[in-house]
Amino acid sequence: MTDFLTDVDTLRDRARRNMMSGPVTASYGTDVDRVVELLNTALATETVCVLRYRQHYFTAKGLDSEPVASEFLAHSNEEQEHADRLSNRIVQLGGSPLLDPSQLTGRAHSEYRTADDLKQMIRENLVAERVAIASYTEMINWIGAADPTTRRVLESILAKEEEHADEMLTFLEPQG
Ligand SMILES: [Fe+2]
Ligand SMILES: [Fe+2]
Repeated sequence: MTDFLTDVDTLRDRARRNMMSGPVTASYGTDVDRVVELLNTALATETVCVLRYRQHYFTAKGLDSEPVASEFLAHSNEEQEHADRLSNRIVQLGGSPLLDPSQLTGRAHSEYRTADDLKQMIRENLVAERVAIASYTEMINWIGAADPTTRRVLESILAKEEEHADEMLTFLEPQG
């Protein structure tokens, strides 16, 4: 048997002894509190994005606003799904999702910016997506191989933010 693996008796014994740690075992590769903190930063980022996109959805106006506004709503809903997946992972790791509204903008990496003009809204959303992309990429790199499940959660969210950024960019490009 491969000698880098913990022997099965020790694995079984630890699993039984530290049962109340749920899915977090002695093989967990990093500081779980730091991972929870990082996930709470991502949760705040997503929640700010939910609210910004929703505000833009309701206030977008003008002849060509309809397809853009419906994309804002779709993105808002997807950011909420991301937030929920992050909350779920935080709880799995024994943490608590931090959703106190008075602290969200302080913790988030993205910004809550409103605009009167449709183009300006699109630009704000593109910037926020790019902030999220850079932020999640750094989180993923920091986690490395230490927590594959959290890494996968962040990677799948990252892929979606890249799609979002691309869609916002398409609205800014000249048509035809
Ligand atoms: Fe998101
Ligand atoms: Fe996004």
